[in-house]
Amino acid sequence: MDRNIRTVDDVLTLMDDLFAPEADRWTAGAADWWDDFYADRSRPVPFFAAKPDENLVSYLDRGLIAPGRALELGCGPGRNALRLASAGFEVTAVDLSPAAIAWAEERARQAGAAVRFHCGDIFRLATGTSLGEPGGPYDLIYDSGCFHHLPPHRRISYRALLDRALAPGGHFALTCFAAGAMGSELPDAAFYGDSRLHGGLAYTEESLRWIFSGLTSVELRRMRDEPPGSPHFGEPFLWTALFRRDA
Ligand SMILES: C[S@@+](CC[C@H](N)C(=O)[O-])C[C@H]1O[C@@H](n2cnc3c(N)ncnc32)[C@H](O)[C@@H]1O
Repeated sequence: MDRNIRTVDDVLTLMDDLFAPEADRWTAGAADWWDDFYADRSRPVPFFAAKPDENLVSYLDRGLIAPGRALELGCGPGRNALRLASAGFEVTAVDLSPAAIAWAEERARQAGAAVRFHCGDIFRLATGTSLGEPGGPYDLIYDSGCFHHLPPHRRISYRALLDRALAPGGHFALTCFAAGAMGSELPDAAFYGDSRLHGGLAYTEESLRWIFSGLTSVELRRMRDEPPGSPHFGEPFLWTALFRRDA
């Protein structure tokens, strides 16, 4: 007989396991799924190119964010972590996938950039002690394309991570699938019925403002479409959002 539920974390873990029977980007095997995704680096995946997000460059150019301590969630091969490091941030970048972290570390070595890459689950870091090295709270938490791969119940953990790790006056920046352009528009409950995330969740502007209410919205817009020759990454099927935690 199982009587395993005592805390909110126990409930969240139980809900994670609802996705386990189906290989997807959110299961016990998620790291393997993403490792396979990154195995062939020559695939024409737009975010495989070593270009920073156009919105991140724009925040830096306009002085909306200033160097400090940055945490990147789901950093993949590190294109934004490297840009932040070159702008003078002290960067910790986390990803589930060993293949992504290995690729990111190679890029950092080639660029001579000092980034602290960590392979692991952002939620385990948040509840463990290693987030303390090299020291939160962070002046910037950056997420390009990780949040929309999380199941609905993990928004609770995600908000808790922001509450714990974002410094007063610090910024949270997000890019995620825009409803009507990319991602699944099924209602939250439907993902549990299917045990699948359908390739990622779409969000409306209103849903993002609601989920991250408590933070002040600095800018929320669609990402600009960047042409292939651009030094920046830009896909119009994504939202870009910059929020600030009041001091
Ligand atoms: C769409 S990719 C984006 C990668 C990178 N941010 C970029 O834009 O180049 C999403 C990334 O989130 C990572 N990821 C998903 N869930 C995660 C979790 N719970 N903890 C850490 N990383 C996670 C995946 O391994 C994957 O590399």
